[in-house]
Amino acid sequence: MNLLTKICALLFLVSPLFLKAQRAETLMEKNWKFTREDDSAFSSAGYNDTQWQTVHVPHDWAICGPFSKENDQQETIIRQDGQKEARVMAGRTGGLPFTGVGWYRTHFKSPVDLRNKSVTLLFDGAMSNATVFVNGKKAGNWPYGYNSFYLDVTPYLNPEGDNVVAVRLENLPESSRWYPGAGLYRNVHLIVTGKTHIPVWGTYITTPEADEQQAKVVIRTKIEQPADAELSLQTAIADAAGNIIKTVTTRLTGSPDSGYLQELNITRPSLWYPEHPYLYKVYSRLYKKGRLVDVYTTSFGIRSISLVPGKGFFLNGKNIKFKGVCNHHDLGPLGAAMNEAAIRRQVRILKDMGANAIRTSHNMPAPELVKACDEMGMLLMAESFDEWETPKMKNGYHLFFKDWAEKDLVNLVHHYRNNPSVVLWSIGNEIPDQGTARGRELAKYLQDICHREDPTRPVTQGMDNMPAALANGMAQLMDIPGFNYRTFLYQKDFPELPQQLLLGTETVSTVSSRGIYEFPVARYAMKTYPNHQSSSYDLEYCSWSDLPEDNFIMQDDLRYAMGEFVWTGFDYLGEPTPYYYDWPNHSSLFGIIDLAGIPKDRFYLYRSLWQKKKETLHILPHWNWPGKEGQVIPVFVYTSYPSAELFINGKSQGRRTKDTSFTVFNTGDEASAKKLDRQKRYRLMWMDTRYEPGVVKVVAYDKNNRPVAEQEMRTAGKPDHIELAADRTTIKADGKDISFITVKIVDRQGNFCSQETRTIHFKASGSGTYKAAANGNPISLEPFQAPQMQLFSGQLTALVQSSETPGIITFEASAEGVKSGTLKIRTSK
Ligand code: GAL
Repeated sequence: MNLLTKICALLFLVSPLFLKAQRAETLMEKNWKFTREDDSAFSSAGYNDTQWQTVHVPHDWAICGPFSKENDQQETIIRQDGQKEARVMAGRTGGLPFTGVGWYRTHFKSPVDLRNKSVTLLFDGAMSNATVFVNGKKAGNWPYGYNSFYLDVTPYLNPEGDNVVAVRLENLPESSRWYPGAGLYRNVHLIVTGKTHIPVWGTYITTPEADEQQAKVVIRTKIEQPADAELSLQTAIADAAGNIIKTVTTRLTGSPDSGYLQELNITRPSLWYPEHPYLYKVYSRLYKKGRLVDVYTTSFGIRSISLVPGKGFFLNGKNIKFKGVCNHHDLGPLGAAMNEAAIRRQVRILKDMGANAIRTSHNMPAPELVKACDEMGMLLMAESFDEWETPKMKNGYHLFFKDWAEKDLVNLVHHYRNNPSVVLWSIGNEIPDQGTARGRELAKYLQDICHREDPTRPVTQGMDNMPAALANGMAQLMDIPGFNYRTFLYQKDFPELPQQLLLGTETVSTVSSRGIYEFPVARYAMKTYPNHQSSSYDLEYCSWSDLPEDNFIMQDDLRYAMGEFVWTGFDYLGEPTPYYYDWPNHSSLFGIIDLAGIPKDRFYLYRSLWQKKKETLHILPHWNWPGKEGQVIPVFVYTSYPSAELFINGKSQGRRTKDTSFTVFNTGDEASAKKLDRQKRYRLMWMDTRYEPGVVKVVAYDKNNRPVAEQEMRTAGKPDHIELAADRTTIKADGKDISFITVKIVDRQGNFCSQETRTIHFKASGSGTYKAAANGNPISLEPFQAPQMQLFSGQLTALVQSSETPGIITFEASAEGVKSGTLKIRTSK
């Protein structure tokens, strides 16, 4: 771009008119008052809340616990999981105190005179059944805790003085199948504009033509008060460097429901795709009688998506398969309280694994996740519901479906229809209505809403009863039929699907605990152990599910398979399957990555196949088995290379090569499953290796039979010191950013002491504080916020949060009998 364009762009942004017209948007984060009591008087403007707790929003009132099996204990039958009788489940929703009522109150005095202004409160998510009062008057309510909603609060305002916002939330027991969190767990925005303005989610940008040569950008802009005759709209597109590259100005006439239409062409656009997440911005400048009255900014990407029968999903004309994971919204030790650093860390870890997609199961994402995916290059399936009319839970979404489903779906679509990362809408997960004619009607109703609000993205849903969904026609009407599990139906059902498309909306549900290995090593369904853990040999799954390779093989051998979304990327709070009834289990074992964000072995299995740019060579299990000398301890290697030789203390254990003769066509039977035939194509397994302390070494060979990489693992000696590693050593001094520090104990030579369970004590000083810790143990009842925690399989993660003063945070971890570890983290503005 030349200097002149640069100057113009700068002038555009800093012109006095721009600044004057700028809307005032603020996050309402600080100085909220909070109570768990309930009294209708709390809504009144004059109520004295000074005795209440002061909290920061986002805030999850339940994550501080304490854990108890009494919290939301559910005596129920999970029919989907094949259960026949009702039994008491304790940790199903995380064993945390999220049910009941909570009130939040805050005061704000506008920096500007609010007369002749419009004021909107935007909640990114409030868990749940929110009722919002402004200066004592009810401004609105929104039942679904996962959705974003906004309220025009102008009529209730005190334009010059103090304003009080009070929010009552209530979570019903038996309303969730997992930990939902509680409270104002996502951001609350205060948006002040002129009376004539662009409303929340008021632009809709599509790119109906988008290739490397040319893009057509279509922009629809809604205006509040469109009746005004003298309005004009100047829309400018800026590239990622901030240069204005196109501008169009339109005099606004009429009041089209879908917004005022403008079109711009861009030559040689920079397309958005996961490896190249290039973002443009649209600046919408609204003029009234020639005076600038509003400026609204929208980030978007230029990309095309399409579906081709028999071939699947195409992004910018290229066929890609979804290498996806399903994730819940909770952030482990932070609970549901949204934190951008935690979200971005998750996306980073998943990208390192080679994943290209996330399904926000089973509800609307946090806006910060969508933004992170736009910026970091990750595809999203944005999901909406886990229930329609027929209950899964006594107090689930079915209570609201009739009155709220359309509003909820419209908000989801309006919120995210400009985000290039969002490529699929999902209208539901394992909806019990799947088998009924009514279910088909509802699917059509919901899909039609998505099409009406955004015709550019395909709609899917996760169906776990494909025979029923095919029988009633529901599967046939979806843009993309989504299968949950049941890979054995893929080949049988595909010919029945008129779309000639098939997506693994939810797959695998293999269970494992990081660093825990059980013997004998074999394939098991619903296996439980006295230690309440699952084995990290990655051969254990649920009665309805399977192993990673059962899905890899589908995706590799069936041209039409569109990819998969593994249950789950990260462990989450609640749903401790297969330990339904076994308190203290209260968090999942499904994750490829544990609750502390530490990869389990399975991470490397996915990485070995999905991550095409980096080498993977990973050995399991650990090699610290005192008392098991001479006994069989199988060794597995997960590697991106086709072949490897294993050595124990220098003695070759033979070479293994991935066996590509096993295909989806010759491995579908039980005998083959038992012999682990599919595994032999993707992992290297030495089933008869015997333990002797020392060195396990693996040498990997490439396809030309050349030794190309080595990896070694040693039996650890006496625990000697604590080793610390931060995911980021410089963070923002904004009082919110977090550095995630992996804490482990090693011997004098630095060998990992994998069996350590010692308690680690944390101290943080300087420009930040200790925030929380997690060890990934699904039965740990230690509070996440306490400044100490036991290691689990030798490791844990400690979280340190910045203050608003730039400087250095000194983090120290100590434990009895070993040398402490210290780490410095820089914080800057
Ligand atoms: C699925 C369900 C998920 C989760 C999973 C566990 O059936 O859609 O929400 O419960 O099972 O395997």
